[in-house]
Amino acid sequence: MQVGVLTGGGDAPGLNAVIRAIVRKGENAYGDRFTGFADGWRGVLDEVVVPLTSEGTRGILPRGGTILGTSRTNPFKVEGGPEKVEKTIARLGIDALIAIGGEDTLGVAHKLLGRVPVVGVPKTIDNDLSGTEVTFGFDTAVQIAVDAIDRLHTTAGSHDRVLVCEVMGRHAGWIATYAGIAGGAAYILVPEQPFDIAEVCESLRERHGKGRYASIVVVAEGAQPKEGSMVVQSREVDEFGHVRLGGIGDLLAREIRQRTGFDARVTVLGYVQRGGTPTAFDRILATRFGIAAIDAVHDGDFDHMVALRNAAIVRIPLAEALDRLKTVDPELLGVAEVFYR
Ligand code: F6P
Repeated sequence: MQVGVLTGGGDAPGLNAVIRAIVRKGENAYGDRFTGFADGWRGVLDEVVVPLTSEGTRGILPRGGTILGTSRTNPFKVEGGPEKVEKTIARLGIDALIAIGGEDTLGVAHKLLGRVPVVGVPKTIDNDLSGTEVTFGFDTAVQIAVDAIDRLHTTAGSHDRVLVCEVMGRHAGWIATYAGIAGGAAYILVPEQPFDIAEVCESLRERHGKGRYASIVVVAEGAQPKEGSMVVQSREVDEFGHVRLGGIGDLLAREIRQRTGFDARVTVLGYVQRGGTPTAFDRILATRFGIAAIDAVHDGDFDHMVALRNAAIVRIPLAEALDRLKTVDPELLGVAEVFYR
């Protein structure tokens, strides 16, 4: 078969491991040939292709980013976009497409049903895709955040400071919750539970009153104070309508300073959470997903996504994965709360 591959949305560590696995299994087991599309759906719209062979994908397993490039291009926001996509696929003689991405990229894949046969691979550091227990990229992002928090502890302790650490996650608090629990945070603020700033400050005062002189507060970029609305860096939105988040960490540090008198500062981890080499866990998950995706193509299981469930790789309908955002389990937040006092 002639199989197209694209990576869309924000990059995530492990993308190259998926590409390598698809190509290696496809060439060796099925005799497939591959067409890579540059920069997600943009490459399909504009017919910008990248050669993909086993030879050309050697050595990319530990490499961060994506050798195909990525973008947040939405063909459904482009005049005649879906028709253009269909035309490219037919012109290049592509029998099936593998789309590696999050809710946006896979949402497009699902909407193309009937035009292009697509198999999805779930990717996002945010871990907010339903239907799979975990997405690749998440473990690496959490590890990067935990390493940063460990470092923040020693400097916070030396200076008697409250250090606010802002992490990514968009509308889900997975990175904040995992990194906060693993990093011993004094408080974790997530979009799933609007926070009361007075309670946060009270908890910090209590901790410091017990003889602790430093605290780490982990805040997800999408966390919101109870009374206010979402804090946004700008009103800019991407083609999928997502507002660019950021700024809540700064706001929080300022508020803690004013209300408690503690020396509170902020560290925004930003894009370091997405960059660099994937953890062993993400390399293995990404490799398993890649192999399962090319198998799904050969079984004709289109409009499906590969997923991790009970340690096994399964296939689920894209509609099921896109049905709702996977948010943090309150039980897990309960674990974090034990350490707030
Ligand atoms: O979806 C992953 C993610 O990293 C979010 O956590 C974050 O809000 C967003 O992408 C930022 O991506 P960009 O600035 O590249 O659009």
